[in-house]
Amino acid sequence: MKRACLLAVALTLGATLPRAAAPTITVDASTSPGTVSPLLYGLMTEEINHSYDGGLYAELIRNRAFLEDAAAPAHWSAVQDDGAAGTMALDPSQALSTAIGTSVRLEVTQASAGHRAGMANEGYWGIPVRPNTRYHASFFAKAAPGFTGPITVAIESEDGKTTFATGRVSGVTPAWKPYEVTLTTAALMPTAKARFVLTVDRPGTIWFGLVSLFPPTYKNQANGFRPDLLQMLIDMRPKFLRFPGGNYLEGDQIADRFEWKKTLGSLSERPGHMAPWGYRSTDGLGLYEFLLWAENMNAEPVLAVYAGYSLKGAYVKPGPDLEPYIQDALDEIEYVTGPASSKWGSLRAKAGHPAPFKLTYVEVGNEDFFDRSGSYNQRFVQFNTAIKARYPHLQVISTVGFEHPENQRVRSVTPDVVDEHYYRTVDAFLKAARGQYDKYDRKGPKIFVGEWGAYETPFEPWNPRSRGEAPTPNMRAAIGDAAWMTEMERNSDLVIMNCYAPLLVNVNPGARQWRPNLIGYDALRVYGSPSYHAIKLFATHVGDEILKASASDTDVLVSVTRDSRSRILYVKLVNPGAADASVQLNVTGAALRPTATALTLAADPQATNSIDSLARVVPVTSQVADVKPRFAYTVPANGIVVLALETR
Ligand code: AHR
Repeated sequence: MKRACLLAVALTLGATLPRAAAPTITVDASTSPGTVSPLLYGLMTEEINHSYDGGLYAELIRNRAFLEDAAAPAHWSAVQDDGAAGTMALDPSQALSTAIGTSVRLEVTQASAGHRAGMANEGYWGIPVRPNTRYHASFFAKAAPGFTGPITVAIESEDGKTTFATGRVSGVTPAWKPYEVTLTTAALMPTAKARFVLTVDRPGTIWFGLVSLFPPTYKNQANGFRPDLLQMLIDMRPKFLRFPGGNYLEGDQIADRFEWKKTLGSLSERPGHMAPWGYRSTDGLGLYEFLLWAENMNAEPVLAVYAGYSLKGAYVKPGPDLEPYIQDALDEIEYVTGPASSKWGSLRAKAGHPAPFKLTYVEVGNEDFFDRSGSYNQRFVQFNTAIKARYPHLQVISTVGFEHPENQRVRSVTPDVVDEHYYRTVDAFLKAARGQYDKYDRKGPKIFVGEWGAYETPFEPWNPRSRGEAPTPNMRAAIGDAAWMTEMERNSDLVIMNCYAPLLVNVNPGARQWRPNLIGYDALRVYGSPSYHAIKLFATHVGDEILKASASDTDVLVSVTRDSRSRILYVKLVNPGAADASVQLNVTGAALRPTATALTLAADPQATNSIDSLARVVPVTSQVADVKPRFAYTVPANGIVVLALETR
């Protein structure tokens, strides 16, 4: 029978017409079916996009140890004022140390007062000059007989015409000695169009090694962190820090892996190493600094140990060949957690941290599904057995999750946790957010989503063509991210940890290898992408109880948690649609107070933040009146809302 005919029959019989169902979000607060993992939201980090050198690690001199290029002192240039003459060259015959097997020789043949010669460093896309600020400059120097100084140390404009801060050292001898000077700026307009210079005003031959310049760091920690950038991370209230990678852990070849023992101690003993993202790492941010970074954020380390596989396919055969790498991992765990009286714990204590760090999770490798030799199963078992034998309380993470075929996963033991990585389009995340984890076996391993991020465009993050695109994602991507977070949060009895990747990007041309990234910066400024704000909203409004919630007749995605102490309900709503979505919220099992707070992040899908527009898309706080067990709420188009519902 035709539809019109049916309607006519229904009308004739006086039947009620079926009404369009009202879009409804239902929340049952009477019981909590599960617990929110206390470590649900954290951070993942590696040296990519100049995350550390030229990023979080506050060092301002680029190529401070002269190891970046064996042919010439990259990022340094000669300074020769009118009438002065000098040359600058690498000199491996005058190595600074065993680790730093070179220095730079400055040969000044002509110079006089007002006619200086020397060398200048361009910094990481400029040297940030801020008003009334003290900079700590240091270097090693020695000179051929006949020259004792002075050496002028300065921060000046790129053209050398304006001096922002200056100091001097003298008493240079023919033996290597460290020198230090404080450079203080006056009241001035901040600029990054500046360089760092070492100059002399008389002829002489001088060698320099490990030339360093630090601005004030977070809490004035030595060899520390850029405060504005670290504060952005602290504001996310991460519960863990996964380090040291990513691909950065593995290196392209086995010799390029993150060799933690070479990242410890004084900077003159750290050779640095070639990182997989096309540039050399100073390792100034080494294992100890990773731990301090986590501690500064009140987060616990999730330690990734090198597991015998590197990116270009080389692997270490399981069995005796792997033993030294396993020992290295055990030593590393001892460095992190051992008492100050232990061999490796004592080095940590010597560095300034006698108390062991808390460690619960150790990850064995990174993305070992790329190891086509099929050796991961056995390598994992060998690491797992050794780690559990020595540290039975540690939870060990496999790097191959259920998104990969069974024959690539660890099969001979059940890992405590598996790490799944999801770089997906927004649409793929919207789909996955509708039940991906419902299908998972609750008796199997826990899930760590150790890398994830939504793409507005098809996934080709390292494609050179994508380098012209914005380094950070737009509002549309934030919608995909938020949708995915609702899925992880609803399932956080299973998904115990998650972290977006990559975290940081220096937005200068040539600085980045990936897009999109969460937080962008240049030498002076820093901003969070819409995805940053979305994650921050989620991570800072998460209780400890999962509540049952469902959505019907609406595309709005939902996740609800409760803080068992404050009894506040956090209702997260994500509207991926281009129109506002009016929903009926039905809350049972809790006595709601009549007013609530809404935190809203909503914007045009293409809208974004950038280095020149730092805060175009940011959350807005508002009050919601007339909150009742059943109340109407409108989720804005392309909008993410966290409703904090207080209860009596
Ligand atoms: O996050 C960027 C890279 O993506 C990581 O280094 C790697 O683990 C993944 O393939």
